[in-house]
Amino acid sequence: RLPDNSALVVFGATGDLARKKLIPAVYDLANRGLLPPGFVLVGFARRDWSDDEFAAFARESAERGARTPFREDTWERLAGSLRFCQGSFSDDAAFDGLAATLTDLEHSHGIRGNAAFYLSIPPTAFPVVLKQMQRTGLASNEAAGGWRRVVIEKPFGHDLESARELNSLVDDVFTPDDVFRIDHYLGKETVQNLFALRFANTLFEPIWNSHFVDSVQITMAEDVGIGTRAGFYDETGAARDVLQNHLLQLLALTAMEEPVSFGADTIRTEKLKVLRAVSLPDDYATFAVRGQYSQGWLAGERVRGYLEEADIPADSTTETFVAVKLGVETRRWAGVPFYLRTGKRLPRRVTEIAITFTKAPHLPFDETDTAELGNNQLVIRVQPDEGVTLRFGSKVPGSAMEVRDVAMDFLFGEAFTEALPEAYERLILDVLLGDATLFPNNAEVEESWRIIDPLEEFWRSTKPHTYRAGSWGPAAADDMLARDGRRWRRP
Ligand code: BG6
Repeated sequence: RLPDNSALVVFGATGDLARKKLIPAVYDLANRGLLPPGFVLVGFARRDWSDDEFAAFARESAERGARTPFREDTWERLAGSLRFCQGSFSDDAAFDGLAATLTDLEHSHGIRGNAAFYLSIPPTAFPVVLKQMQRTGLASNEAAGGWRRVVIEKPFGHDLESARELNSLVDDVFTPDDVFRIDHYLGKETVQNLFALRFANTLFEPIWNSHFVDSVQITMAEDVGIGTRAGFYDETGAARDVLQNHLLQLLALTAMEEPVSFGADTIRTEKLKVLRAVSLPDDYATFAVRGQYSQGWLAGERVRGYLEEADIPADSTTETFVAVKLGVETRRWAGVPFYLRTGKRLPRRVTEIAITFTKAPHLPFDETDTAELGNNQLVIRVQPDEGVTLRFGSKVPGSAMEVRDVAMDFLFGEAFTEALPEAYERLILDVLLGDATLFPNNAEVEESWRIIDPLEEFWRSTKPHTYRAGSWGPAAADDMLARDGRRWRRP
């Protein structure tokens, strides 16, 4: 099914996200033939650009960032569907101009009033942009005679209170069904594969509970530092940047009950139940660890510490690493720890969900023969090396009955000839189709802040531990698991 003829209006069209992700994703959709015949990409930004200058920028970002090969014929088609609206967000005339552009597009491209507005702008600019959309009728389905949707990028607020304010602001202007909050982790194929793995197979679900699961580790490690986002990052920190959203969403998908069907309402309901059941550790000092990287070595290169990064105050206490132990207080999960960790400047980029199963209740072997036998483990590799690994014990060839861990590997790249689309490609397509299944709703967002706020409150009066860039985080994170008689995986 193709989306309806429509316009995608990107506020902040000359920014980093647009250049690196949004425009390449639109190009890939065009290349795969997934855009409707009457599609238009409208860029809105302050820069004084003509349509042609915007087209040159878009071409360059598509050439650089697209997943699919760059093809002149695809580009030609897309280039005819690009418009640029120049203006600042407080500029009434610019928004009137945008409304007029959309009206023109009815005639030239038959968009029939359908438009999605992507807020690829700092959250501080949300109120003024939303007000402008309300004033000009841009946000109203009735006025437009078609559908009007809004796409919001994280961070969705800074804490529970600001998230509530933001949600009520958005809900004032758009109806809840027309609001799409992007958590791009949900757009990743390997994350969606959790649904297939758990609910399309017989094998895993019967053991997906506290009777068989010892613990769960969710890791999102990055080798990069903070890049050029010093200002944003220093105000945000790792917990607000990715724990509140990506990691908690991964936890929710791992722990949720089977939805009655694969639709937005049912999946959001099940995820929300998990988030509501999440409990915090009783001892934050041990089980909620923050870290900040100091200078070190990564891939043979010397890298700066966080405090030496450009535009970071020398006394900043912002964390670039978090590890936390959470519980899920349901019949299925009571007593099973969920260890979540994320960090910048760790040894490599890897995101994975590792389910460690309990030990066999009895081993009819000599103890020495099982010295190298660990727990069974299922590792869902979100990225890179997308796939799934199952670790289990196997007899070591030879005359003794020695048992050792082996791995069975599934790799997307080997099993499928179909290419993995980029997360943004999938999510933009879903916005145009009006399918909200892969978008968290405001109840989930608020519930996630309910989990994060007490941790932030505790951390406010503490300093983060330091860890060397290129290491797996502060020693305190290892101590946290050691306390429970466990160890972090080294992916
Ligand atoms: C973003 C965070 O949401 O996710 C960044 O703001 C982080 O700090 C990025 O680098 C990681 O995304 P991915 O898809 O590269 O794992």
